[in-house]
Amino acid sequence: MSNVKRVAVLASGGGSNFENIVKKEADIGIEVVGLIVDKKDVFALERAEYLSVPSETVVRKDYPSKAAFEEKMIELIESWQAEYVVLAGFMAILSPEFIDRYERNILNIHPSLLPAFKGANGIRDAYEYGVKISGVTVHHVDSGIDTGEIIMQQAVPLSDTDTLESFEEKIHAAEYVLYPEAIKKVINMNKEH
Ligand code: GRF
Repeated sequence: MSNVKRVAVLASGGGSNFENIVKKEADIGIEVVGLIVDKKDVFALERAEYLSVPSETVVRKDYPSKAAFEEKMIELIESWQAEYVVLAGFMAILSPEFIDRYERNILNIHPSLLPAFKGANGIRDAYEYGVKISGVTVHHVDSGIDTGEIIMQQAVPLSDTDTLESFEEKIHAAEYVLYPEAIKKVINMNKEH
């Protein structure tokens, strides 16, 4: 039996983490079997196309309730037989019911050293605060915002010459190393249990 874990990625925007994970899937020991985006026409969809990953757009306002919106996503994840759900720049807040369904198998990446700078603008908020060290966190997802148990963190120092743009680049570079490592770590931990 194959040991390769089937992963669905959820994104809302550019999808650079999605692409990075797909490119490293052999090393991580996964297959990215589908991408769900909750916004129309985002660049992540183009990446899915050239990476030959099936993709679907599921927009909240097209559904009568949050439960129906999430039900559609669950249907897709099940149809792809994905065991893991990887959030990569996914901006919608998921309900406790959705999260409980995937328990320890739903992960998120946040561009700060949690618990500092939670929320949608972690990079900008840290930069504007003037911190000298920020970083990247991969965590399990719970029903709070950016509050789940931490899996791995990577510090990213700021130099006095960093602009917001150069700092963003450093953060993203750290994400592309950390997220694959953290996914691999969780999969290996789960194998031991
Ligand atoms: C990343 O910085 C991630 O940490 C945050 O959203 C951004 C997504 O970027 N949650 P991309 O869509 O993967 O390019």
